[in-house]
Amino acid sequence: MTVTVEIALTATNDLVEGLNHLLPQLSSSASALTWSDVEVLVASPSSRLFVGRDDNRIVGVLTLVVFAIPSGLRAWIEDVVVDESTRGTGVGEALTRAALEEAKRRGVRSVDLTSRPARIAANSLYQKLGFELRSTNVYRYVIE
Ligand SMILES: CC(C)(COP(=O)(O)OP(=O)(O)OC[C@H]1O[C@@H](n2cnc3c(N)ncnc32)[C@H](O)[C@@H]1OP(=O)(O)O)[C@@H](O)C(=O)NCCC(=O)NCCS
Repeated sequence: MTVTVEIALTATNDLVEGLNHLLPQLSSSASALTWSDVEVLVASPSSRLFVGRDDNRIVGVLTLVVFAIPSGLRAWIEDVVVDESTRGTGVGEALTRAALEEAKRRGVRSVDLTSRPARIAANSLYQKLGFELRSTNVYRYVIE
């Protein structure tokens, strides 16, 4: 299989459908995205939505978020998911490598991400590509 990876620049039916097919495979609590949600996402200056395709079918996505803070330009990788039917064929690796190249091209100092220990494939993928486990506490404040 030859996967192609691109950065989505416009909202299309194909993209909305692809995201809504993939997101439930990442999180059972993910809400369905509307066309307008996807328009906001692809227009965001800080977010880059990477889309992996096999023979034009969307088989995986990843979002790279780049932001400036006093200690430099930093980035997070979020919402990485590959279609169950296509896992184990290099799509996740191609998406992550493309995001890291883009981060490097933009002068980002470091790329962070989180992944639950139970996500065996994801943790293996990130470590294979050079991500190192940090010793820190991850907190979240939920805004009701
Ligand atoms: C994690 C995920 C994105 C990996 O995507 P993928 O396309 O299947 O991964 P790839 O085929 O590119 O594999 C790349 C590397 O990932 C690791 N990996 C992939 N599948 C694996 C598995 N079943 N078990 C262990 N490691 C695995 C390996 O290190 C592999 O390298 P190798 O082929 O040299 O062994 C995919 O399994 C997925 O969508 N999982 C559900 C959602 C999820 O956990 N997302 C991550 C949130 S942090």
